[in-house]
Amino acid sequence: MLKSAALLALAAVVTARKCHDLTIPISISARNAVFDLPAPLSEIDVTSFFLGFVHAGINYTDALLTGYKTVSGHYNIAATYCQPDHGPGKALQVLTHGIAFDRSYWDYPFNNHNYSYVAEAVDEQGYSTFTWDRLGVGASSKGNPINEIQQYLEVAALTELSTLLRKGCVKGINAKFSKFVHVGHSFGSAITYNFVNANPDFSDAAVLTGFSQNANFLSGFALGGNFKPVKEIPSLAAKYPAGYVAVPSSVGVNIQFFAPGDFDPKMLASAFANGQPATPGEILTIGAGLSTVNAFRGHLLIATGERDVPFCGGNCSDTTTIQGAFPNLLAFSEILFPNASTFEAAVIPEAGHGLNFGYSHKAAYASIFDFLRSSL
Ligand SMILES: *[C@@H]1O[C@H](CO)[C@@H](O)[C@H](O)[C@H]1NC(C)=O
Ligand SMILES: *[C@@H]1O[C@H](CO)[C@@H](O)[C@H](O)[C@H]1NC(C)=O
Ligand SMILES: *[C@@H]1O[C@H](CO)[C@@H](O)[C@H](O)[C@H]1NC(C)=O
Ligand SMILES: *[C@@H]1O[C@H](CO)[C@@H](O)[C@H](O)[C@H]1NC(C)=O
Repeated sequence: MLKSAALLALAAVVTARKCHDLTIPISISARNAVFDLPAPLSEIDVTSFFLGFVHAGINYTDALLTGYKTVSGHYNIAATYCQPDHGPGKALQVLTHGIAFDRSYWDYPFNNHNYSYVAEAVDEQGYSTFTWDRLGVGASSKGNPINEIQQYLEVAALTELSTLLRKGCVKGINAKFSKFVHVGHSFGSAITYNFVNANPDFSDAAVLTGFSQNANFLSGFALGGNFKPVKEIPSLAAKYPAGYVAVPSSVGVNIQFFAPGDFDPKMLASAFANGQPATPGEILTIGAGLSTVNAFRGHLLIATGERDVPFCGGNCSDTTTIQGAFPNLLAFSEILFPNASTFEAAVIPEAGHGLNFGYSHKAAYASIFDFLRSSL
């Protein structure tokens, strides 16, 4: 009797939030770049691609660009909707993950979901959340890795999903929201940046995590990953078309996402085991639209780990690359958000690029939810 009551109590704690998986058909189109690049199939092809990408003195995206073409398609997007036990939350957070992961980045199962952003958002803060596997990744539809799966088409996917969510037209979500928060991580922040620029009044607030507008340090990420052809990685080979590229070792994942001293080695092993690939088309369009002055009119937070490699070169407080004109590399973005209701930049002490994976995740979530509490 006692034992089953205890089990029930435990079950009630564990299942506090109600989540279900969705498959959402969408029809979208975007003006994509056309690159003169064969899909890299061998290790040497992949390495040559990354050496081209980091090569000083040229803009590799521009060097390979032959023009632009509208790409259209019908795709299935894999997503998960969560809400508090008692019903829909006070706003819907639309969460877009970055390169090397899928939507589980936001509700990471490691250590009994102890690190989960979704658990914090839904159970502690009373939001609903919508996480999606970016087009081309995880359980969402895949596509041509050069000229189809690019940032432009993924922005179109986020735009369509957001529109369906606001209209209450997503089958399986019996709630209609008037308040939205768009949150991205890394490449997902780039997608979110372009979404809120094109739809400046859609979201009440936006949070760009693992992000800055300083492109000086992407080479650490590009080379540090030791990327290989996806077909050489047994756990991914059957799930992705040839031409995708992935990080083949925990050393690569460590360099890209984890700051020294800020992580449980078992979390690194888990992140490596669950890693997902990227497309060369995504890597070439990672910076698309990011030097554009942003029209967003809601509240804006940029939250990035102090030791983030791709966006801060391992030290967001070193402002040498911007001649010391701002207190840190994130604060620089304020001039690019002239119409935001408020702008905040939070450097998360000791954190790496994978904010949701470090011991520092608590400090990151505290910054984000403090910001949202004062914004909404
Ligand atoms: C590189 O070239 C692309 C394509 O022409 C362009 O969109 C992008 O802004 C360029 N990047 C930089 C840093 O100049
Ligand atoms: C996660 O684990 C830590 C250490 O065991 C604990 O202090 C904390 O309360 C846990 N957090 C959640 C959300 O369960
Ligand atoms: C900011 O708002 C002003 C006034 O509405 C408008 O003229 C300007 O174009 C906006 N800036 C951007 C970058 O959208
Ligand atoms: C980061 O850079 C700043 C400014 O150059 C320097 O004062 C600080 O010691 C650096 N931090 C670390 C952790 O290296």
